[in-house]
Amino acid sequence: MTSICPDFGICGGCTHQDISYEDELSLKEQAAFGLLTEAGVYGFLYLGIAGSPVTVGYKNKMEFAFGDGVKGGPLEVGIRKKGRYYEIVTPINCNIIDEDYKKILLFTLSFFRETGGSFYHKAAKTGTLRHLVVRKGVFTGEIMVNLVTTPSFAADLRAFAGGLAGLELDGGLSSVLHTTNASVADVVKSDMTALLYGRDFIYERLNRLRFKITPFSFFQTNSQAALVLYETALEFLGDITGAKVLDLYCGTGTISLFLSERARLVTGVEIVPEAVAAARENAALNNIENCEFICGDVSDMPTDGADAIILDPPREGLRPKAMAGLIKAAAGTIVYISCNPKTLARDLTELTQAGYVAEKLKLVDMFPRTAHVEAVVLLRRL
Ligand SMILES: C[S@@+](CC[C@H](N)C(=O)[O-])C[C@H]1O[C@@H](n2cnc3c(N)ncnc32)[C@H](O)[C@@H]1O
Repeated sequence: MTSICPDFGICGGCTHQDISYEDELSLKEQAAFGLLTEAGVYGFLYLGIAGSPVTVGYKNKMEFAFGDGVKGGPLEVGIRKKGRYYEIVTPINCNIIDEDYKKILLFTLSFFRETGGSFYHKAAKTGTLRHLVVRKGVFTGEIMVNLVTTPSFAADLRAFAGGLAGLELDGGLSSVLHTTNASVADVVKSDMTALLYGRDFIYERLNRLRFKITPFSFFQTNSQAALVLYETALEFLGDITGAKVLDLYCGTGTISLFLSERARLVTGVEIVPEAVAAARENAALNNIENCEFICGDVSDMPTDGADAIILDPPREGLRPKAMAGLIKAAAGTIVYISCNPKTLARDLTELTQAGYVAEKLKLVDMFPRTAHVEAVVLLRRL
């Protein structure tokens, strides 16, 4: 099969554009199984891999970078070329980003080319334009654009925001922000964020729940597949009527709020204060009173007293102290959501040795065309 994206191989965004989606799902299954069997984890009921409900234009967030197409060429904004630091593909052919993002990118590009903008060159210490972050509530259509520059960027951005507001988009522009970032690290980070248009957040809706997304809060990047992931996790938890459930690594509390409809009390634990504040706000927004959120490191949290624990750690999986706390908690049921089969295999080995049995596993593809896949595992204490 030939690639369905002409920039495939050059653009650093995708791993799979040259095989069918069915073949991509099989490759993901094989990779995950290889790692689990290598670590000695088997004997569970495998419920297959759920493909993403949408494979085209599914990303609800993109962090685009400014650079040039070839060294010394004109300004570009988009996705970095594979193995390149400053060279960019402007992704007008991309099939995993929303069509509105392309209109926003093309407008941004012509605006800064015309006004003489230059990209931030870390080594040469020249230029000011760093990133353009675009987010869209897939179920609400609300769009947020955040221009990230160095603090030395001094131009008046009213015409930029006005131009964005005048674009004909499928969704609606709700928020334009300007963030300054002095960090030498190539990450989107805020020293200061100013509102240029609208409000400083957007809403997303998942089933009956509404979520407020702020510029730096975590939200699963594929809203439709997030629903599949959360529904799988809920199904694995089983009957939690009257139960006390811990949601470890809870982010903005999305899973906690889903669980709250059935559990007696859900306690979410998250290390990023902004995410915890958003989780509390999201609970209030949905009139949910049986969720509480604790800001802190899971490794330092008392985990005892929970009937069931759901956890969704970052790629590194569980740190030793967090694993010790989880084992000590001795909850009857654990549902482990993982975005990294490698650390999942390591952690399942340890939980198995500590008296848990992996009963069921389902893979959920949240990231079509990339190498990543999510796994949901049900563990029971013997
Ligand atoms: C994969 S995200 C989970 C998001 C959430 N479950 C959801 O679906 O939106 C992992 C979360 O763990 C948080 N985190 C990372 N290390 C942590 C730690 N040591 N203690 C508590 N939270 C942590 C991150 O800030 C992030 O929000």
